[in-house]
Amino acid sequence: MEGIIKPHGGTLVNRVKDVAPKGAYKGADPAIVLSERQQCDLEMIAVGAMSPLTGFVGQDDYNRICEKMTLADGTVWPFPITCSVDADTAGKVKVGGKVALLDDDRRLLGLMTVTEKYPHDKKKQAELAYKTTDVAHPGVKVLMSEGDVCLAGPVDVVCARYDVEYPKYRLTPAQTRAKFTEKKWKTAVGFQTRNPIHRAHEYLTKCAQEICDGLLIHPLVGQTQAGDIPADVRMKCYEALIEKYYVADRTLLAVLPAAMRYGGPREAILHAILRQNYGCSHFIVGRDHAGVGNYYGTFDAQLIFDTLPPGGLAITPMNFEHTAWCKLCEGMVSAKTCPHGNEHKISLSGTKVRDMLAAGQRPPMEFSRPEIADILIASMKQ
Ligand code: ADX
Repeated sequence: MEGIIKPHGGTLVNRVKDVAPKGAYKGADPAIVLSERQQCDLEMIAVGAMSPLTGFVGQDDYNRICEKMTLADGTVWPFPITCSVDADTAGKVKVGGKVALLDDDRRLLGLMTVTEKYPHDKKKQAELAYKTTDVAHPGVKVLMSEGDVCLAGPVDVVCARYDVEYPKYRLTPAQTRAKFTEKKWKTAVGFQTRNPIHRAHEYLTKCAQEICDGLLIHPLVGQTQAGDIPADVRMKCYEALIEKYYVADRTLLAVLPAAMRYGGPREAILHAILRQNYGCSHFIVGRDHAGVGNYYGTFDAQLIFDTLPPGGLAITPMNFEHTAWCKLCEGMVSAKTCPHGNEHKISLSGTKVRDMLAAGQRPPMEFSRPEIADILIASMKQ
């Protein structure tokens, strides 16, 4: 692994341990069923994607993350990763004891050694990390629905997921790192997306490929909001696009089974940390990265990297302006490369694209490759 960027905090965490039998839980410790977000977070911790975290964060970390965007020891960290429960459940859990973490079918995911219980200051997190307490914000909505008490402590994960989706693409950070080494990539750029890849995305990834040895197309397939295109449809789009339009030796497709927080700038930092742990040296940040509605400025997710302390993050953000097809330039451009006005650009709103696809109409090829449009049209007919 020599030459590949170090994990955040220095060491790649692995919390997958054979400490209890897999399957239906029959143990003696109190048990809690994790929410969808908590299950995603648990998997991220278990495989080391959230290194240096070894479990759900305690109160000192919680406060420092909200206030200063670092863990209590000063390591950059943008969102508290919490295991919250209601007060009644918290009452049954002993500090110093273990609690079993279950999925929706009460199968054992892992055990947490509880080091702390503390009040879940959701308002503080919403105000400071999400910059809004508006429950119309999908990330804040999930936060506000969570329990009032946080349980903290290291986890030992017996099985991060029982019914694994996209097993072929579900590579752990250790596995993507091994792939990069095998492919002799010294530098790799990570691309986060929660959408099908349109021409703008394709342009960013290919510009980045000109600079880095390899590209990790790393779609987020964990919890998203209703209305986002389902991950199984997106996966078909990524496969079709890569097969026809990307250089196989220079491109790797793998999934990120994380929950989307829609946290804009702070989430861009989280996304970058995760990709560093997967072995990426660079990370693409375009316009309104991980944004939703009008909660964040178009380039806030780029500017936030400048506020980090020197050396706070080893991965290098690769910033991109708003890009679109220019009819006069006959190619993808941004304000940095094209002198022509917006009237010459092909720009379509999300609603317009959805309406076209629903009507069985392909958006122009300057917006979306026809192969991708066809997959999306077919998925809407089902
Ligand atoms: S995100 O929530 O995962 O950020 P999306 O899948 O739309 O949403 O975007 C993936 C990445 O592409 C993000 O870094 C985003 O900023 C960038 N991006 C999307 N569209 C454009 C565009 N037209 N111009 C520049 N960057 C873009």
